[in-house]
Amino acid sequence: MINLNSGDTIISVKDMAKTFHTGKGVKKKEVKALRNVSFDLKKGRAMALVGESGSGKSTVARLLTKMHDHCSGEVLFKGQDISDIKTRQALVDYRKQIQMIFQDPYGSLNPAHTIYHHIARPLLTHKHVKNHAEAKIRVNELLEMVELDAESTAPKFPHQLSGGQRQRVSIARAVAVGAEVILADEPTSMLDVSIRLDVLDLLKRLKDEQGFTFLYITHDIATARYFAEEIAIMYQGQIVEYGDTGSVIDNPQHPYTKLLLSAIPDPYVSFEEATETGAELLAKANQIREASFEPVSTYHQFKGNHFYGAMDKDLGDLFNL
Ligand SMILES: Nc1ncnc2c1ncn2[C@@H]1O[C@H](COP(=O)(O)OP(=O)(O)OP(=O)(O)O)[C@@H](O)[C@H]1O
Ligand SMILES: [Mg+2]
Repeated sequence: MINLNSGDTIISVKDMAKTFHTGKGVKKKEVKALRNVSFDLKKGRAMALVGESGSGKSTVARLLTKMHDHCSGEVLFKGQDISDIKTRQALVDYRKQIQMIFQDPYGSLNPAHTIYHHIARPLLTHKHVKNHAEAKIRVNELLEMVELDAESTAPKFPHQLSGGQRQRVSIARAVAVGAEVILADEPTSMLDVSIRLDVLDLLKRLKDEQGFTFLYITHDIATARYFAEEIAIMYQGQIVEYGDTGSVIDNPQHPYTKLLLSAIPDPYVSFEEATETGAELLAKANQIREASFEPVSTYHQFKGNHFYGAMDKDLGDLFNL
């Protein structure tokens, strides 16, 4: 897959595929969760991964952190093939650099431990600090960095914080571990609407001011546009369209991208206009889904850094809305 954006590539994914085998006997099933997924993550930039439920977004993140191994293809982290990471220590070292932030921050925090403990522990185990005195100073810095009041927050337990505050703690912890790449899997979708933007703004500052690299998994096109320089649209384990976020959202080329975007009201289009094209498109939704399931073998360049999966020409014409 061609990527025209300059910058240092931290992660390069090429033709990554993953099939899950579940059940036994007659219930045996094969799920092709990912089929030939390719993309690059560049330092200090974000790529949004957007697609409906079950399209394979979280699987991408799980393979990048080696929670599962990919079946075929290649993932390079700073040029190193992650399949070569074999020993426990090598895995620990790798995972320091690439951290996940989940939808539910409560699930990843231990209710029995204070916030101080959550952040000090990785600092001490990874020897980023020498002792508790140093840890205390660094924990305070990290809490301030995620805009929490250090003195009052450090002694608290997770249940004493709001959802947004807990998500800030998990961000501070990812930074404490020494992450350069953060895989954020719907990091704001469980938070109150009123504080989602604040948390997203924090992630944006980490990217723009401190050079953190993000894979931003979301259902929300508006936040993808706000946060991520690049976007990849996934359907049934494949990337059907990718490139500069504004270009893909403003000029979607693949019928599936058009379908996905048609489900989202555009503030610049009048309601009558939106429902007209929306209704027309939704009537074709099943046909589009079926056609989009076909393997993408090549990508066409629309313009600059904007590519879309090639489809059968006749179908392309049919869905040319
Ligand atoms: N451990 C697993 N075992 C079997 N099947 C799995 C496993 N993990 C994921 N899958 C399947 O792989 C496909 C992709 O799942 P994935 O969780 O990556 O989707 P997603 O895009 O993150 O969806 P959502 O938006 O709902 O989080 C789904 O069909 C899912 O059921
Ligand atoms: Mg998911």
